[in-house]
Amino acid sequence: MSNQTEKIEELVEKRAKAKLGGGESRIKAQHDKGKLTARERIALLLDEGSFEEYGMFVQHRCTNFGMENNKVDGDGVVTGMGTIEGRLVYVYAQDFTVSGGSLSEMQAAKICKVMDMAVRNGAPCIGLNDSGGARIQEGVNALAGYAEIFQRNILASGVVPQISGIFGPCAGGAVYSPALTDFNVMVKDTSYMFLTGPSVVKTVTGEEVNQEELGGAAVHASKSGVAHFAAENEQEGIQTIKSLLSFLPSSNREQAPFRPTNDPAGRVDDALNDIIPDNPNKAYDMYGVIGSIVDDGEFLEVHKSWAKNIIVGFAHLNGRSVGIVANQPQVLAGVLDINASRKAARFVRFCDAFNIPLVTLVDVPGFLCGTQQEYGGIIANGAKLLYAYGEATVPKVTVTLRKSYGGAHIVMSCKQLRGDVNYAWPTANIAVMGAKGAVEILKLGEDAEQEYNDLFCNPYNAASYGYIDDIIEPRNTRFRVIRALESLADKKAENPQKKHDNLPL
Ligand code: HXC
Repeated sequence: MSNQTEKIEELVEKRAKAKLGGGESRIKAQHDKGKLTARERIALLLDEGSFEEYGMFVQHRCTNFGMENNKVDGDGVVTGMGTIEGRLVYVYAQDFTVSGGSLSEMQAAKICKVMDMAVRNGAPCIGLNDSGGARIQEGVNALAGYAEIFQRNILASGVVPQISGIFGPCAGGAVYSPALTDFNVMVKDTSYMFLTGPSVVKTVTGEEVNQEELGGAAVHASKSGVAHFAAENEQEGIQTIKSLLSFLPSSNREQAPFRPTNDPAGRVDDALNDIIPDNPNKAYDMYGVIGSIVDDGEFLEVHKSWAKNIIVGFAHLNGRSVGIVANQPQVLAGVLDINASRKAARFVRFCDAFNIPLVTLVDVPGFLCGTQQEYGGIIANGAKLLYAYGEATVPKVTVTLRKSYGGAHIVMSCKQLRGDVNYAWPTANIAVMGAKGAVEILKLGEDAEQEYNDLFCNPYNAASYGYIDDIIEPRNTRFRVIRALESLADKKAENPQKKHDNLPL
């Protein structure tokens, strides 16, 4: 065997060994927990044969606690680039079979390298987290590694999409990288995120709680809003990441990919002409409206189980990616509260950062009142959504279906917040408040309710001032919104020069 052949064989062997990470038995243990390995996850995520790995032979340089005898090539994370539906992405996946995927100085350096490449080359960065946190043997070097990652998350924010998959433990300060990224996808039963685990919680507060109840996917998807998606299993989690990317541009320098459709732009839907109940206090399902107007009825909802009084998510309209924000009359009558405002504000800002037009469907009775909301800061939180719409320069098309009252009317992408095209259905009521409340405050008799209704509870009053551009037949909503968006495709709008804004956090 020639010298060269020997060296090539050595490489092949080294590669094969590195690919086994912590070894067969730990891979089996990972599978026994119902989890895939880092490499299996990457294989599912990327187009077949597209993965190019970087840093396969990186090792840690820690010598504390005998760590010099515990070196595994790759050091607990698999990093590199590949494609998803032919589009370049950078990826890292922590390998729990090596020191529990814990983050070392060198693991952090590998992650930082792909993050830097993603930003430089204008491609999304996807992180699949499965880790026991900071590599305890490395002490402060591991913490420094986290900080390096966080700093890059911050600088990459709004430049390239950053998506986190939480596919195992993610505890302590480690949670802050996912929290800084644009979307978190968690997996039910096998992933959790918390600052301190159940045993510390018990010591500090006396509260007894298990991992799932403290920081499982269901909790973060429905109570805290930390998770944008809760998948049934890892396969579904990976699929969610891929679906999400199909709506997004690769960076803020690009437009989202066009997706051709056979759904005619001019399709009308007569059912929309009957969807608004006669009784203004009766609900209807906003999902029905969204499904009716978007291409092929396909809608990727974000934060499906959290703050359900507002709906946000991605769809296509005549092939163009759009962000939909819609009040949901079926939940709390579609009122804006703290969580709904935060949820929608973050979504609006994401869309604006990545050139995705906004379509807003309005049926909002107002902001939720009461001590709970006031003490929780509904003023500052509601202002986030107001701010987000007002600063957004992407095309903004608004359709008011029914109620649009008071401050909530303004917040929900009104004309004066630089709404580009504002439509209303004939059933719209655009007013300071509903008739009953108004008549009470003005100390008018009940018979004034009718006068108030005639004056304000219609779209014509707002249209008479030009606050509504046109009143449209509900059945025509799809093609009117598409036509508006097409006219706005080359929209140019800018905000004043500044270091950065100071939105009410
Ligand atoms: C080094 C670690 C590790 C860590 C796990 N391992 N976490 N090694 N540093 N942080 C090692 C284990 O020693 C073990 O090695 C292997 O990974 C698998 O761990 P197990 O405990 O056997 O697995 P499991 O029972 O599934 O439990 C997983 C776990 C548990 C719940 C994550 O390992 C755990 O509680 N780890 C510590 C979590 C933690 O407190 N991390 C520090 C948080 S503070 P062997 O060789 O025995 O197989 C933090 C600060 C970040 O992260 C701050 C950023 C700003």
